[in-house]
Amino acid sequence: MNDRFLRACRREPVDATPVWFMRQAGRYLPQYRALREKYSLLELCAHPELAVQVTLQPLDTIEVDAAILFSDLLLPFTPMGLRFDFVKGEGPSVENPIRNAADVERLSPFDPRASLAHVLETITLLRRELAGRVPLIGFGGAPFTLAAYAIEGGPSRDYLRTKTFMYAQPQAWHRLCGFFADVMTNYLRAQVAAGAQALQIFDSWAGALGRGDYREFVLPHTKRIFDGVAGSGVPLIHFGVGTTAILADLAEAGGHVVGVDWRQGLDEAWRTIGSERGIQGNLDPAVLFAPRDRLLAAADDILQRAAGRPGHIFNLGHGVLPELDPGVLKQVVDLVHEEGRTDG
Ligand code: CP3
Repeated sequence: MNDRFLRACRREPVDATPVWFMRQAGRYLPQYRALREKYSLLELCAHPELAVQVTLQPLDTIEVDAAILFSDLLLPFTPMGLRFDFVKGEGPSVENPIRNAADVERLSPFDPRASLAHVLETITLLRRELAGRVPLIGFGGAPFTLAAYAIEGGPSRDYLRTKTFMYAQPQAWHRLCGFFADVMTNYLRAQVAAGAQALQIFDSWAGALGRGDYREFVLPHTKRIFDGVAGSGVPLIHFGVGTTAILADLAEAGGHVVGVDWRQGLDEAWRTIGSERGIQGNLDPAVLFAPRDRLLAAADDILQRAAGRPGHIFNLGHGVLPELDPGVLKQVVDLVHEEGRTDG
């Protein structure tokens, strides 16, 4: 089996730097768009045989070193009582967003083995289909990012409602994030029991906070998820966008590996999180649209900054954009595999 990804998560030497891409299954792939003509995103997630098919789509063509479960961060909203859908061109939309303490109290805990059985079944089927070809990554959301969608009811630029809620109703905020921490811990453990071999915890929007607020309002809840899942024994990746200012705090909350974006050099970020952690990143997804020489130089620069130290997983700093030509990702994979090696 190709275990470069798992070895790098444990900071063991590898024959070549492992690489996978956030949103490697998605709209930039013609095979995905063809399926989306027949099924909505939620339908793809709800039917294990379709979710398996989509998860596998990028593996043959771009030869990445890990598969990531095809699902969505917001699926757990439904069983907790938050009704949502995806609106074309706008993203997620929650019909009954959280606006006060009473809304928080109404959220229902759930058993993921019953309410999200289709996701767990997708994982089990995927392990069988993959047959050890590459490891399977499961995932879930961290409290701030989940709270932002639950409170805003959709995407946001400034997280004004979320922050106002946090400052004005701190008790309800902590109840909400404590609730998210509990349900995500159960859900992530259930994913490992079903066969997930690593987990990525997405706190995509935590970078909207300053250090003090992150430490006060978010860190303890995120830490509870990491502590609660630690016993499952699989590598844990902690990812956020625009986290340069809070990176030490984010790393303190947990993760064997920390995912970073392109806003700072990989070497600098690695110094901040410490050499006892692995690092994942950090190519700007927009650089994939640059002329070939420029792109390959940027990818090479990241490998130079990793400097052959064990524990680097090559990825983008955020997801693949829908306009991308899939062939470009294959060129990056080939370069990373050729040039990236650890001395160990
Ligand atoms: O290949 C993979 O990365 C696995 C699948 C995956 C999806 N969503 C499928 C998806 C993963 C890991 C996610 C996580 C997710 N979902 C996050 C965290 C990661 C991040 O991007 O920061 C967030 C914030 C969400 C919520 C979400 N889902 C939004 C805001 C959107 C709309 C924006 C967009 O890109 O369209 C989605 C839709 C979504 N989830 C798509 C996919 C492939 C777009 C697909 C479509 O419309 O067909």
